[in-house]
Amino acid sequence: MFIFMPVLRSRMAVPAVSLLLLVCVGSGCERSVPVEWESSELVDALPDEQLQQQLRDILVQHCGTVARPRLVTRPDAGIEFQQHLKHGQAVYMKRCVQCHGVTGDGNGPVAGHMYPRPRNYTKGIFKFTSTPYGTRPRRADLIRTVRRGITGTSMPSFDRLPEKDLEAVVDYVLVLTQRGELEYQLAMEAEASEELDPEYVQEYVDDIVTGWQEAELATTWPLSPQPILDAERARAGRQAFLSKGCSKCHGEDGRGHTKDNIGLDSWGFATRAADLTSGMLHGGQEPLDVYRRILNGINGTPMPGFGHALQSEPETIWDLVAYVLEVSNRRRFGETIPAGLIKPYDTAARQAEAEEP
Ligand code: HEC
Ligand code: HEC
Repeated sequence: MFIFMPVLRSRMAVPAVSLLLLVCVGSGCERSVPVEWESSELVDALPDEQLQQQLRDILVQHCGTVARPRLVTRPDAGIEFQQHLKHGQAVYMKRCVQCHGVTGDGNGPVAGHMYPRPRNYTKGIFKFTSTPYGTRPRRADLIRTVRRGITGTSMPSFDRLPEKDLEAVVDYVLVLTQRGELEYQLAMEAEASEELDPEYVQEYVDDIVTGWQEAELATTWPLSPQPILDAERARAGRQAFLSKGCSKCHGEDGRGHTKDNIGLDSWGFATRAADLTSGMLHGGQEPLDVYRRILNGINGTPMPGFGHALQSEPETIWDLVAYVLEVSNRRRFGETIPAGLIKPYDTAARQAEAEEP
């Protein structure tokens, strides 16, 4: 049994953690060591067993094993970095695995009923980035997310984790992510051409390296300096919200209760437009956070980037930021917001239930 002890700030978490500790003391459990990363279904489904084995060997060559994890983007890393990754793995197995799973597929034992679901890292897609839609995140984006958590979801804040642990666990997340990406590419190649030509394999590896390297240089910044976000800006923002298509998904009141926006995200789960009135912006409360959500969109979800559409009127983006922040803070100023449809959540919950073994 795993000991589940994230460094939590939330008040509610304390009894939950002590309860788990009690259970652990009672059953004399100890921390489990990961045995093996799991193969994806795509690999298991390949008809040729020899090809399956060849694929697994290539994965080991580039991503190592649980006992010796390796980063695709750091092929020449020495023993010190190896130890750093092993340390990251220990932190991961203590604080993240319950939700994100041993292989990083987001299928940890407690993930079942969460909405949104814990991130499946193996697709290389991350939501809250400072980079354009469709690109990888910067490492600093992941560090920031893990440090502050994702407000309004089950992802806790780990800001009390020592810097060394934080850096190491994020690098271990990158191991799982890049391994997932490579495995997927190899499985697709093996299925399509019934062989794994070393030349192509190297191309996939190079693509992964390039993707992550390019992201490091792709930080987006506001198209115009941040103005004072006053009531006038928020009023202009409301007009833009209604005229630029935001309300189509988020609803005129920003609650996301529209019938059109129910679909699946890139990980195959029900999604819906954020309830902007919840007071819990997932991607952060700072004006720059909201700006980047609007400019870049949110990877893996239907939330599009408006960088192109609003390029010629950059002030409109700030108006929208002012409006989103105003809507988000309404409850704090005592405004009562009536309950609305809960249908999309219902859909997500039922889907999770259907998946239970
Ligand atoms: C209690 C469950 C839980 C635990 C424990 C947990 N996470 Fe998460 N995590 C989540 C959920 C849920 C999401 C998805 C939130 C969303 O989609 O908005 C998430 C998302 C993430 C993301 C993706 C961020 C993005 O921009 O897409 C990263 C990275 C992450 N978690 C890292 C970690 C690390 C590292 C740990 C351990 C130190 C950890 N998580 C522990 C539930 C958890
Ligand atoms: C096609 C549907 C769609 C349109 C159009 C759309 N959004 Fe979104 N939006 C979403 C979805 C879905 C999410 C939630 C993504 C997630 O975190 O899973 C979201 C999330 C957001 C967030 C992040 C909230 C948070 O929790 O951090 C902001 C801010 C936002 N939208 C603002 C806007 C604005 C402003 C516009 C118009 C310029 C807009 N959206 C247009 C679907 C849409």
